[in-house]
Amino acid sequence: MVGYKFMGKAHSHAYRDLPFYFDCDVEPVLQAVAGRDEEGVKEAAEKMGFATYETDWRRLIERDDIDLIDIVTPNNTHAEIAIAAAEAGKHILCEKPLALTLEDAQRMYNAVKKNNVVHMICHNYRFAPAIQFAKKLIQEGRLGKIYHMRATYLQDWIMDPQFPSVWRLKKEVTGSGALGDIAAHSIDMARFLVGEFEEVTGMMETFIKERPVADSSGGLSAKSASTVMEEVDVDDASAFLVRFENGAMGVFEATRFAGGNRNGNRFEINGSKGSIRWDMEQMNNLEVYFADDEDGLQGFRNITCTEEHHPFAGAYWPAGHIIGYEHTFINLMTELMKGVSEGTSPSPNFEDGIRNQEILAAIEKSVETRGWVNVKQMRLVENV
Ligand SMILES: NC(=O)c1ccc[n+]([C@@H]2O[C@H](COP(=O)([O-])OP(=O)(O)OC[C@H]3O[C@@H](n4cnc5c(N)ncnc54)[C@H](O)[C@@H]3O)[C@@H](O)[C@H]2O)c1
Repeated sequence: MVGYKFMGKAHSHAYRDLPFYFDCDVEPVLQAVAGRDEEGVKEAAEKMGFATYETDWRRLIERDDIDLIDIVTPNNTHAEIAIAAAEAGKHILCEKPLALTLEDAQRMYNAVKKNNVVHMICHNYRFAPAIQFAKKLIQEGRLGKIYHMRATYLQDWIMDPQFPSVWRLKKEVTGSGALGDIAAHSIDMARFLVGEFEEVTGMMETFIKERPVADSSGGLSAKSASTVMEEVDVDDASAFLVRFENGAMGVFEATRFAGGNRNGNRFEINGSKGSIRWDMEQMNNLEVYFADDEDGLQGFRNITCTEEHHPFAGAYWPAGHIIGYEHTFINLMTELMKGVSEGTSPSPNFEDGIRNQEILAAIEKSVETRGWVNVKQMRLVENV
């Protein structure tokens, strides 16, 4: 694993817990973690259960006792690490968004294909049992023809203008702001549940244009005692409209300025025969409405997706004994282990990463041109 803070903790916890719940043909072994600060990475290795550590990620890639490289570093490092890992024949799990640019995402995809390694991107939210169950309902036609998806991803962790200038607020490290960081998850959800995007038009805003330089940061927290200010050159908030290839309409909003919303990843989908609603902060529940329910009983019902027929849920606890955020990672990594043993790259993989990146790029282009952008026109290589 390269990196060991927010996602480092989530991923290493999931690898450790996975064999406890799932029987896979291959089992993850926490062999080594890499970080640049020796004291920090040593402490992380001990706490997270890694056998060894390295202070340069290139050493991980050279080691022949390592089969899989897990990339949990800021976005500007993903391409270099993933390409080197693929060239050394290592399988890869990479955090989202795949890269800073569509060109880098394409180079990463080319490298994993050329070297025939297993690859996945960590869009973990689609692995909540309620989402997997929603997918099943949609595939079975229970919602009929899909007309609408409206998705919001609302956070509020940078609303204080004195919150420091962390890597997530610097274009050269992160690519884009709320768009690539959180709308990317809503886009993955939409592609998983509704289908491919045809065209988009968006708007982006940066409300706080400069912030104090950070002294330290990790995940969504940071400290600063500095009076030196730095420019914020990414979006604090983004919104966009979507026309899906299947004719459905999408309305999306992602912001870090929605006070009171800590991780409000939510959506509603409406079809000709029914509707569903989901809220990450109540992630075990799926609200479902079926138009053919009898008169007088019509309305949304709330299903707690913890039963045997809800995908992945049966591996955990008896019905009604809920699971949480960390289990979405365990479920994703179960697919990854299956992929490693079978030599396949389960979805979401780097191809999904490219599709997602095309949409992010199309939204940014639409903001620049103040118009609609056809997503396929962003595509760099036609047969991917
Ligand atoms: N799937 C999700 O829900 C989710 C949630 C949060 C973050 N992410 C993604 O995970 C990635 C990491 O985000 P985070 O919140 O864990 O960040 P973080 O700031 O908490 O941790 C980043 C880690 O990378 C290390 N690092 C930075 N540059 C490095 C380099 N050149 N070489 C080695 N290590 C380096 C840092 O020291 C730190 O350990 C990002 O791509 C982010 O978009 C995904």
